[in-house]
Order: sequence, then C-alpha cells, then structure tokens
Amino acid sequence: MHIMADPHAVQLDALKRRARAESIGFVPTMGFLHSGHRSLMDLVRPRCDHLVVSIYVNPLQFCPGEDLDEYPRDPEGDAELCSGAGVDLLFMPETLYEPGHASTVSVSGLTDGLCGARRPGHFDGVTTVVSRLFGLVQPTLAVFGEKDYQQLAVIRRMTRDLALPVEIIGAPLVRDTDGLALSSRNKYLSADQRIQAQSLSQTLFAIQAAVAAGNRDVRALLALGRTSLNVDRIDYLEIVDPDSLQPMDRVDRPARALVAAFVGQTRLIDNVALCPA
Ligand code: PAJ
Repeated sequence: MHIMADPHAVQLDALKRRARAESIGFVPTMGFLHSGHRSLMDLVRPRCDHLVVSIYVNPLQFCPGEDLDEYPRDPEGDAELCSGAGVDLLFMPETLYEPGHASTVSVSGLTDGLCGARRPGHFDGVTTVVSRLFGLVQPTLAVFGEKDYQQLAVIRRMTRDLALPVEIIGAPLVRDTDGLALSSRNKYLSADQRIQAQSLSQTLFAIQAAVAAGNRDVRALLALGRTSLNVDRIDYLEIVDPDSLQPMDRVDRPARALVAAFVGQTRLIDNVALCPA
C-alpha cells in the first residue's frame, strides 16, 4: 500500500491509470476508521483495479462550535486497517485546498431539511470537498454509507446534476453488537452515555416494528419514538420519502425514519428503512 499526501501527485497517478483504462474505486473518509468504513472498502475492492481511500478531516463541513479540533485521529491504526483491506493507495493530505480557494459546490432542496437545517453550510462543505476529491482521485466508482443517509442522497444528486463520470454506490449501515450505529464519534461516549445512545437504534427499530405491524400514521409513530428516546436533546426525528427526503403523513409506501440526537455534547445520527407490509 502506498501512502501519499500530495494532491497533485495523486491526480497525476490517477490520470495515468485512467489512460491505461484501469478502474479506480474510491472511499472518502475523515479517518479514525472502524468496521463501517471497512465494509465500504470490502464492497468496492472486488469491483475495481485500484482502490483509493482518503482521510481528510474537512474543515469546510464543520459548523462553528462543532468538534473540528477534537475530531479523533489515529493515522497508524487507520493505515493498518486500510492495508488489511487491500487498499492500494491511502491519500492523507495535510490540506486539500489551494490558497485562495473560492469555489463552493452546493446542492439545493435535498439539503433544506434534516441535518441540512440543523448544520447550516455542512452539506456545502461535503459537496465541495467530495467534488474536489473526485477531481483529484478520478474514481470510476465511489462508495458512501447509508449511515449518512442524507449525505448519500446529496452526493448522488450532485454527481447526476454535474454529470460527473463516477458511479455512486450506497453501502448498508453497520452496527455494533448493541445496535449502536458505528461512528468515529462514539469514542466521545462514556459507558453510561453509550447506554443512552442505544436508545436511538432501539427507537428506530420500535418504529420499524410498528410499521410492520400495520401502523401507518406518522404522527403516532413519531410520538412513540419520542417517548422511547433516552437522550439529552432530540435534534430531529422524522419519517421521510426515501428519495426526495420530504416528510410523509402516512407510511403507505417505503419510507425512511431518521434521527439525530445529542447524548451529552455528542451528536449522533441513525436511520432505518420502513417497509409497510
Ligand atoms: P466519515 O464520517 O469518516 O465517513 C466516511 C464514509 O463511511 C461515509 O460514506 C459514511 O457514510 C461511511 N460510514 C460511516 N459509518 C458507517 C457505518 N456505521 N456503516 C456504514 N457506513 C458508514 O462521511 C464522511 O466521513 C465525510 O462527510 C466525507 C464523505 C469523507 C467528506 O468529508
């Protein structure tokens, strides 16, 4: 496995590979890698000639007062995980932006609600960094987790709207044995907070079970969910159309339930598919 930090060297290498008709698979991350990230690598590894993982804690996607400075880092552990996953190139830039960087990629509509409404500017930061990474890494396919369900939808839309020649693959959400969605931010949780955090997945599973049992009324489902969440603050709990992300009144077709909540200072997100029988 090669480790590179220089964006231009990465782009030069990628352009040479593309000229030789090699396929490039890409997993962008912010590091502190866990089995969720590993599952993305495993998904794309058999589908490409050359597998690239990037690790970059992108300042543009953090809002003021968020955890940019504390975001956990473990470059050695990350390199070990990547090498075990058969990654060919680990791209770990110091910075990704040129001095005077002045361009923003922004997707409207899909970013209005959910995390977009609570974290102003967050998705502009994500789409700006992902489009720049696509320009550098020149992937033929790139994989994103359903853990960040809205992010996946926004990146699919950006790729389509800008006609970027990249196939976007969605990967299922990976959970710990206690149901908690794996996240680099779980490191912030104390033992007691971890128990509280389990209530996110428990709540979503309860909503899922209620839908499977025939409950279609979104207000009733959300009321049920709010009583079972054991968190310090609910940021949102919503049931939306899985493609448009618009709120629904009745779950009379497939839907998605999404939650964001604070346990202490830590903001956690989770989501499940809802399938009426
Ligand atoms: P990060 O939070 O490091 O996540 C990198 C990728 O791993 C994302 O596609 C995310 O959805 C996926 N992922 C994280 N936890 C997962 C889990 N438990 N199950 C499945 N997939 C999981 O998302 C970002 O970084 C950044 O916003 C990024 C896209 C790299 C842009 O900076």
